[in-house]
Order: sequence, then structure tokens, then C-alpha cells
Amino acid sequence: MSIEELERIAQAIVAPGKGIIAIDESMPTIKKRFDAVGVPNTEENRRAYREMLLTAPRLGEHISGAILYDETIRQATKTGVPFTRILLNAGILPGIKVDRGAKPLAGFPGEWVTEGLDGLRERLTEYVKLGAKFAKWRAVITIGENAPSGTCIEANMHALARYAALCQEAGIVPVVEPEVLMDGDHDLEVSYEVTEATLRSLFGALYEHNVMLEGTILKASMVISGKECADQATVEDVAEETVRCLKSAVPATIPGIVFLSGGQSDEQATIHLNAMNQRGPHPWPLSFSYGRAMQSAALALWGKDMQANFDEAQKTVSLRAKQNGLAALGQWKKVA
Ligand code: 13P
Repeated sequence: MSIEELERIAQAIVAPGKGIIAIDESMPTIKKRFDAVGVPNTEENRRAYREMLLTAPRLGEHISGAILYDETIRQATKTGVPFTRILLNAGILPGIKVDRGAKPLAGFPGEWVTEGLDGLRERLTEYVKLGAKFAKWRAVITIGENAPSGTCIEANMHALARYAALCQEAGIVPVVEPEVLMDGDHDLEVSYEVTEATLRSLFGALYEHNVMLEGTILKASMVISGKECADQATVEDVAEETVRCLKSAVPATIPGIVFLSGGQSDEQATIHLNAMNQRGPHPWPLSFSYGRAMQSAALALWGKDMQANFDEAQKTVSLRAKQNGLAALGQWKKVA
């Protein structure tokens, strides 16, 4: 596939007012989410839940892509229509999580390194046949007493770069996700420093591995106070510092940046994205690739009563898509 084709896909992902719904929870993560609402973690429940999300009315108006899990990309609706077909009919590009999760980094207690490079070329070939147009790999960077170490950042960014190069070889747009966790009591300044160092290392590694930035999407965490920090930064400061950090570390060649929600409340995730876009224009479109901040309200409803609350849960997904789509344009307004 040509670079122009990768570029076209990347640009479609960050089309004005559109973003990504991330529903690529791994087995342990979906179990955690289902446990929280009392739903048994069976294959049929996972299928039914994801069908509810992906068939939400008019989802494609504000959603450009959906990140699926290995199990999900092979599943279909109750009536037998493959999820990838449902997505394409709605004008939504199918994406696939290809990393195999973050594992403890040996020699560095409390730090993580993402695995999944072995056999990745072959898996990507299969995902292309299954209809995937883009992929996701998440690296996890922890902020703590002696963390992050340079070793942790380097090991993770190297893996991200190798993943991205393999994706482009296969004709898939890589979404590179270096997530700086919100866990901890660190302040905004520390979040800024770690995020900037991580992003600079990432783009160094992408350059070293001949990754074409025109066909790459960055999935970033916001510069934000740690969850346990006593002094929580204002919306203005989060927006200001996140944009400042991105400008200092992310080349303008990148077609777009999408944010993860990372444990922010639904409304916070929307407000922060909106505040950043109200300060635009920026060198790249800033949009969303939210998991929890797209799903949590719908999951709570559906988990309570899958049949009776089905329509209501779907409406909630469509509404979250609309609100985040507006925030991607800086046009979101709180309705009382
Ligand atoms: P959250 O928005 O819930 O952080 O999930 C996004 C994601 O895809 C994390 O890898």
C-alpha cells in the first residue's frame, strides 16, 4: 500500500468533528468492567455488549474509527452480520489492538513494558484480511518515586516504533499510544516533564525506524494532575500545558492527535478536549479515542438490564459520541 493510502486513512480518522471509540478491552480488562456492573464475563455477553455499542444509532456521524479486540473483530451481530461490515456500513473504519499487554519490566519494580512484537507481522497480515485499516499499541509509563526510568521509556518507545514500522509494511495505519498514567500524587509540572520526555523519545524512535509520520496517528495522554494530587489543575491549565507539551515534542507532519481518557470522568474528558480546541488552530487536529469516557454511562445502564435498557444505553453512546465530536471542534456546551 502506498503512503498516500495510509495518509488518506489517517486523515479520515481525524476528520473534523470525528474521533475514535475504543472498545478493545483485553480479557482481564473487560472482566474488570463487567464485574463492576455485575455482568458475567461470557463470550456471548461480550459479543452482545459490543453489538449494542457498535449498532448505536447514527454512530458514524461523530465516530471515524472503532478499535476492536482480537475476539471482537471476528464476531458478528445476533443476526450474523460481521461487526466489520456493520462498521463499514456506518462509515466507521475498523481498527485492532495488536499489543499483548503491559508486563512488569524486569529490574525496574513498578514499571511496565508492552509485549507483542513476536509474530506481529503474521498477525497483521491476518487482520488486514479481516478488514482492519488501523491498529493500536499501548505503552504504559508510570510516574513514581524513581519512575519513569530512562530504560522504561526507551524500551517502550523502541517497541512502539517497531510495531509502527510493521503496521505500515502491512498497509495499516499505526496509532501509537504512549500513555503516561494519571495514578499518583504528582502535579501538573511533573506530568508535563514526563509526557514531553516520553514523546520526544517516541518521535526519535519512529525516525530511527523509518516510520512515515504522514501515515501515523498519535494517541496521547493529557498533561494532567495525578489522581491523588491535592492541588488539581484547572481546565485552563490542563488545556494550556497539554498543547504546549505537544507543540514542543510532536512534529507537525503527524496528521492528527487523539486523546485517551485514562480515568478522567466522562465530562472532564469532554471539557478538556473542548478547551484545547477553543484555543486552536493547532498544527494538528486534536480529537478523541476514548474507551471509558465513551462507554461508562452505557455500560452502567446495559449492565442493569440488558433488554429493558438496550435503547437507552445506545442513546447514551450516541450522545457521548456527539458531545466528544463537538469538543473536537471546540463547540461543546454544557446543557443544564
Ligand atoms: P480509556 O479512554 O479508557 O483510557 O481507554 C482508551 C484506550 O484505548 C486505552 O488504551
